[in-house]
Amino acid sequence: MASSYSEVYGAWKRDAEAFWAEAAREIDWFRPFDRVFDPQQGVYGRWFPGGETNTCFNCLDRQIASGRADQNALIYDSPVTGTVEHWSYGAMLDEVVALAAVYRELGIGKGDRIIIYMPMIPQAVFAMLAAARIGAVHSVVFGGFAASELATRITDSGAKLVVSASCGIEAGRIIAYKPLLDAAIEISHHKPAHCLVFQREMLKADLQADRDIDFASAVASTRERGVNVPCTPVLATDPLYILYTSGTTGQPKGVVRDNGGHMVALKWSMQHFFGIKPGEVFWAASDIGWVVGHCYIVYGPLLNGSTAILYEGKPVGTPDAGAYWRVIEQHAAVTLFTAPTAFRAIRKEDPQGDLIRHHDLSKFRALFLAGERADPDTVAWAEAKLGVPVIDNWWQTETGWPVAGNPIGLELLPVKYGSAAVPLPGYDVQVLDDAGHPVGSGTLGNVVIKLPLPPGCLPTFWNADERFREACLAEFPGYYRTADAGYIDADGYIFIMSRTDDIINVAGHRLSTGSMEEVCASHADVAECAVIGIADPIKGQVPAGFLVINANVSRETGEIEKEVIGLVRDRIGPVAAFKTVICVKRLPKTRSGKILRGTMQKIADCESWKMPATIDDPVVLEEIAAALQARGIGV
Ligand code: COA
Ligand code: AMP
Repeated sequence: MASSYSEVYGAWKRDAEAFWAEAAREIDWFRPFDRVFDPQQGVYGRWFPGGETNTCFNCLDRQIASGRADQNALIYDSPVTGTVEHWSYGAMLDEVVALAAVYRELGIGKGDRIIIYMPMIPQAVFAMLAAARIGAVHSVVFGGFAASELATRITDSGAKLVVSASCGIEAGRIIAYKPLLDAAIEISHHKPAHCLVFQREMLKADLQADRDIDFASAVASTRERGVNVPCTPVLATDPLYILYTSGTTGQPKGVVRDNGGHMVALKWSMQHFFGIKPGEVFWAASDIGWVVGHCYIVYGPLLNGSTAILYEGKPVGTPDAGAYWRVIEQHAAVTLFTAPTAFRAIRKEDPQGDLIRHHDLSKFRALFLAGERADPDTVAWAEAKLGVPVIDNWWQTETGWPVAGNPIGLELLPVKYGSAAVPLPGYDVQVLDDAGHPVGSGTLGNVVIKLPLPPGCLPTFWNADERFREACLAEFPGYYRTADAGYIDADGYIFIMSRTDDIINVAGHRLSTGSMEEVCASHADVAECAVIGIADPIKGQVPAGFLVINANVSRETGEIEKEVIGLVRDRIGPVAAFKTVICVKRLPKTRSGKILRGTMQKIADCESWKMPATIDDPVVLEEIAAALQARGIGV
């Protein structure tokens, strides 16, 4: 069995189908697949067509059958409620079956969509697995999104059911979820038949008699009646979930994940990338609303027979910057996976890492960082303070598992700061210029992946094959366009530097400046606007909005700025962290009318910039610089 990175990557390159057929042996199939890959199916081909399986079966029933009934599947650690709960594989199956029975009794079947809008509580994980058990398709919506974002997802997915909770808890305040849910359903073009609401003690929600059902009583009822729900066989190519992510327009893209390829890829990654053994405790400090949460809080660890941690807290403030070290020690976690922003927040509070020394981290083996570029400073600090390898890994909601990273499960390659290391098997990563020609090593360009994408990556967008083709496959024929810019050095190390579209990364959260512009422009007094991402020492980037006010408006600009900030918070959500808005006389444009957002961003970030040759009026950039400086930005 090959073990070094170059042997394993080489084996995949020589015969990708044999490689994935071997990896697929780690999954239980009810019916074997007809072929490993069929290039004729789907938009660019499909993995494991004809195979029948079930993701919940592989996560729970199969683990129990192999003796893990009493092993912890999930540890719920919630500093915000002062709770720690241990859920064994056996106990979790019991909950999931009871909930799957509730779904069934509500008329949900194979292929039906269920929206899950929940905080970080075990019931959210049960809700995902119960959907998988009956072949329903879940779509988890992050709690920090506003009602209209939730409404878009309800409409696009055509969900029959929403599973939610009465509240979430954020930095000492209780966020009532139910009013957001009610508002979302009110404005949604599609109305789900039912909402299953988990009532939390800190805040109970009012339930609507004709639509809302109490989660706990419904589950108690099916359990008391002993309703059994076996796993529904689904095709490997059937969808397991839809995860909406920011696209280049305000309309989010529904990334589809299938059942078979997803399991094969995740299981492979748990063992060979993360180097996690069954029985070990793996912690991904993300949120189940993001792809990292789907893959590495829920499905990856369970498919691997490991123990996952579900952490309802923050890296700082719950109660302090030692929270992560407390969790690692208390639950004997061998690895932590989070976003660099969390480490920047910890470092700000505890620059010397004094709180780390209060804890026994002897079992801790590695730190994985993803979600945004891992800046060399943060990596060096974490390495020095923790004394373990810090593994930057690059991927996207679309890919569903790491494209590149230092494959510690195979071998630890030399670390290069600022690089996400090498491509993993399955991914032929290349860098092309705008005309689609390969560039030399060290040259910045469009980072693309040669088709076909490996198992686990998106086969398409939900109900939108054409949009998928157009957005991801059309620009560079034969390749998937990642919309990231970067370069590959002479040793084959990948450096991801920025996006090539309007996406910004705020505290590891992916957001579209285009959708923020749509909201700003909807304010009656705004004639024109531009939103850019500017550097932030903790969050990496934060949005900054520039507004040109209608000529006939005589109100205080400060008032309008506040209203626009409120609008973005209401329509997109607090997660956008949209707090900087500046009214300006005009926006810098090219002669053809294109707003020079890139140059504005360079001025704000104090980067060197050249006067664009096509600029209409160079004085406007001076006005922008002065407006930024008046706010203490770009000085
Ligand atoms: N429900 C409701 N509101 C939420 C929310 C949720 N699930 N998650 C975040 N918010 C709110 C926050 O309360 C905050 O509101 P505020 O503007 O009123 O303060 C806003 O959305 C922005 O949240 P966040 O980006 O999390 O900023 P923060 O200042 O609260 O915390 C960090 C900053 C770095 C500590 C935090 O982002 C973090 O822990 N990141 C870890 C990385 C991570 O989870 N990445 C995901 C991909 S791996
Ligand atoms: P998301 O779909 O939310 O996971 O965001 C994916 C985007 O985040 C990528 O396209 C990158 O722009 C960025 N990203 C994620 N991980 C990394 C990384 N390790 N290095 C650089 N950028 C990253």
